[in-house]
Amino acid sequence: MALTYQVAPGGALTGRIRVPGDKSISHRSIMLGSIAEGVTRVSGFLEGEDALATMNVFRALSVRIDGPERGNVTVHGVGLRGLKAPPTVLDCGNSGTSMRLLCGLLAGQNFDCELTGDASLRQRPMQRVAAPLGQMRAEISTAEGGRPPLKLMGVFNLRGIDYRMPIASAQVKSALLLAGLYARGRTCVTEPTPARDHTERMLAAFDYPVERKGSTVCVTGGGKLTATSIDVPADISSAAFFMVGASIAPGSDLTLEHVGVNPTRTGVLDILRLMGANIELINQRQTGGEPVADIRVRHAELKGIEIPVELVPLAIDEFPVLFVAAANARGVTVLRGAGELRVKESDRIQVMADGLQALGIAAEPAADGMRVTGGRYGSGVVDSHGDHRVAMAFAIAALRAGAPIEITDCANVATSFPGFVPLAHAAGLRISETGI
Ligand code: S3P
Repeated sequence: MALTYQVAPGGALTGRIRVPGDKSISHRSIMLGSIAEGVTRVSGFLEGEDALATMNVFRALSVRIDGPERGNVTVHGVGLRGLKAPPTVLDCGNSGTSMRLLCGLLAGQNFDCELTGDASLRQRPMQRVAAPLGQMRAEISTAEGGRPPLKLMGVFNLRGIDYRMPIASAQVKSALLLAGLYARGRTCVTEPTPARDHTERMLAAFDYPVERKGSTVCVTGGGKLTATSIDVPADISSAAFFMVGASIAPGSDLTLEHVGVNPTRTGVLDILRLMGANIELINQRQTGGEPVADIRVRHAELKGIEIPVELVPLAIDEFPVLFVAAANARGVTVLRGAGELRVKESDRIQVMADGLQALGIAAEPAADGMRVTGGRYGSGVVDSHGDHRVAMAFAIAALRAGAPIEITDCANVATSFPGFVPLAHAAGLRISETGI
């Protein structure tokens, strides 16, 4: 896995690009399509390793899935009770979303199965889903410390619960709602602050009733999902690298096409605007229950801010690149209330602080955030620790570096953003890759 990026300094981002499909929506299109009745056609599907891992899991559960073929996938749904015992252990690769959502969806099946993943995923906390699913009478055992692999025993009698989530997590919320489809009675999840709501929206698109009252969302078991068509918009989390790049690089004027702008995902827009970014949403429209827009970003002088804590869950995947925005802003940027970053694909607080410091940027990590002082920076070698978003964030940093930046361990960029290097190069980033 010795893929290294070399990024020469300078350049500007211009033109119009479309980044790959939304990862969260792509996962859910396969999951809900598989347990629906009828044939679901998906377009704009993310052909990245994470979403492909979900697809392979459902194939192992005896679902016929055709594609992907230039983003088109056809899922031959088997209905809520049509999945079959898999012949092997189910491998979720690097994907926390696959593992946590599958844990919920598979908790109510009448067969046993086991979920595992790569070295990074096997370090990530799973008790946050296993414990509430246990309250629903699922039988799940974890390895030491609540980590994968997860062993799920077949059960016949899940029961609905009322669960108040201690953290704002769309993965936990989704796991419980998916288990709720198989449970007797009503399953309700209350979130402390809003987390992404793609599962609720997509259940409704599959004609499954979802009740929402304030911060509580409920489903009642025993219904059915009806197949539909899903148009997956471009992923705002992938677009975020280019939004920051165009903001910090003088002369930039870039339009990102057909980006999902679901309000539970747009914290990055709010944070960048508070920092002074010049971002315009054009041609706002709806597709399959999700709002979409083209996003035009022009260079602007950014200023340091205290990031409002309520925006943290709405921008949770964008902090690696937002730290790069902070490094290029006038003054100090402070993030708090983001302890979740420590349990993502890497410890994103420590790994980003180490990388920023390697470039000569004043970055002070804290237990639940970071303080970054904007300023000039030069060359350096940064270890991405196999974290896709860390690798791409440091590639973007080169737009304003004084000298080249080298980033190591970049192969996992393919989990969420296949084709990042050629697309970024076409937009104006002076990036090349060596290895593999
Ligand atoms: C996701 C939820 C978020 C996010 C992840 C995708 C999802 O995780 O970080 O990349 O698709 O539900 P948490 O729910 O753990 O915050």
